[in-house]
Amino acid sequence: MRRKVTGSKYQERSGPREPARFHELNKKLFIKSYGCQMNVYDTQRMTEVVEPLGYQSVDSPDDADLIILNTCHIREKAAEKVYSELGRLRQLKAQRSKVGRRLIIGVAGCVAQAEGAEMMRRAPVIDMVFGPQVYHRLPDMVRSAEAGNRNILDTDFPAEDKFDHLPKARALTGPAAFLTIQEGCDKFCTFCVVPYTRGAEYSRPADKIIAEAEALVASGAREVTLLGQNVNAYHDETAQGVVTGLADLCTRLASIDRLERIRYTTSHPRDMDDALIEAHGTLVQLMPYLHLPIQSGSDRILAAMNRQHTVEDYLSLVDRIRAARPDIALSSDFIVGFPGETEADFEATLAICKTVKYAQAYSFKYSPRPGTPGAALDDQVPEDVKSRRLAELQALIICHQSEFNESCVGRVMPVLLEKSGRLGGQMLGRSPYLQSVHVAASADLLGTIQQVRIDDVKPNSLGGSLLAPAPVVPATMAPAVASDSAAEHSKIPTLESTHQA
Ligand code: SAH
Ligand code: SF4
Ligand code: F3S
Repeated sequence: MRRKVTGSKYQERSGPREPARFHELNKKLFIKSYGCQMNVYDTQRMTEVVEPLGYQSVDSPDDADLIILNTCHIREKAAEKVYSELGRLRQLKAQRSKVGRRLIIGVAGCVAQAEGAEMMRRAPVIDMVFGPQVYHRLPDMVRSAEAGNRNILDTDFPAEDKFDHLPKARALTGPAAFLTIQEGCDKFCTFCVVPYTRGAEYSRPADKIIAEAEALVASGAREVTLLGQNVNAYHDETAQGVVTGLADLCTRLASIDRLERIRYTTSHPRDMDDALIEAHGTLVQLMPYLHLPIQSGSDRILAAMNRQHTVEDYLSLVDRIRAARPDIALSSDFIVGFPGETEADFEATLAICKTVKYAQAYSFKYSPRPGTPGAALDDQVPEDVKSRRLAELQALIICHQSEFNESCVGRVMPVLLEKSGRLGGQMLGRSPYLQSVHVAASADLLGTIQQVRIDDVKPNSLGGSLLAPAPVVPATMAPAVASDSAAEHSKIPTLESTHQA
């Protein structure tokens, strides 16, 4: 079914046994999630998996009985954060031990997958280390740790599908939910660790995704974001030869009653097929926001990165997407200072940014990752050059983002109210373009989509007011106000988005 099988269920190297005193109910679990949304999704699934053992999720490590760090390995800084957090946890564990209370510490995610055994050696505070493919085995690992075993290590890519062993019911964390549909990557961009930490590309069966989406909607979700490291490479084929691509999957999801909004991330430009582009023009539930990373504006650097597309390919793709959905807001990731990047290459990155005018974008200094081809290249770019280029690029991105946000002022748009704001009588929601919107609204409108007039642009969000009176509207895209109808669809771009470490 999936990937290579390595090793047995999991290894345990028993350390000194401590008394088992974890039989009681009402234990507390704290999971800290780093990195991308796949980790956020995995964190939710881990929470569900250990709940039958009596663990309730809490917001702080201070009183937790079980702490899991769900780690990210994408850049050096992301991986370093884990070790500094483990230093703090060592103190917490020592304090607990003084008062005769135990604390179990687990490390999950991509650093665990990449450096499992090494982590155990470096940080003896850890009781369990396990990779992203074995979360369904977490209850066994936790029981074992509760019984006093330490040094539990499981970084298999098991033959069985972890999704088949996770609970069918989904605990809802809000009206907007994540749903992983694809994992792993076969692209092997020369800077990236993901193919090594998450393994080969794998798509979940469409029927199981539909069932999970229905369960989410039944428990109150109104928006689902489909997740995958390469989400638009999604591909399911039944024994009868029925093929489902991402466009087909979105079409099936769009027929679920009360599922008002569909998003997906992260897409690779190579896998953006005609059917998916067309779906952006025809499916009202598919939100007009697309995260489509280009990484660099130089063909020479794109080739060195093994991105498998040119700048021209990318721009023609953007044209086709905008033709299908004129108001679509585009976002991207950029890496500056990839080995061999010259001033001219960097200028080309600024140029593509000016051409596309992203509604928002993420940018990073290249971080050489052990074991990736990029790390072995000779012509690494000095740190001060990377810093200067990053600052310049970010200034340009912010400029475009502000322009886009300002262009939204005065418009009326559907906003999904997702949670209470910090101020009383205020709700926080999302526009179709993934901008955060603060709205004066009562808490009973939580989970509804309301027509909101955008009044102003705040540092990290928009401010808006409800069109009064505020009936609950069923769909997102149909503009309720004539002045903001089809003609408006030609303006756009957005703020805030997706992943990142
Ligand atoms: N699958 C996605 C990206 C996953 S990682 C894609 O193909 O676009 C998220 C982002 O982290 C990448 O888009 C890239 O911009 C950045 N990134 C990945 N490896 C990096 C590295 N070694 N140094 C700096 N940034 C990196
Ligand atoms: Fe990494 Fe994305 Fe490239 Fe895959 S396609 S190797 S996840 S950057
Ligand atoms: Fe892993 Fe996501 Fe980070 S796939 S390396 S947690 S960006």
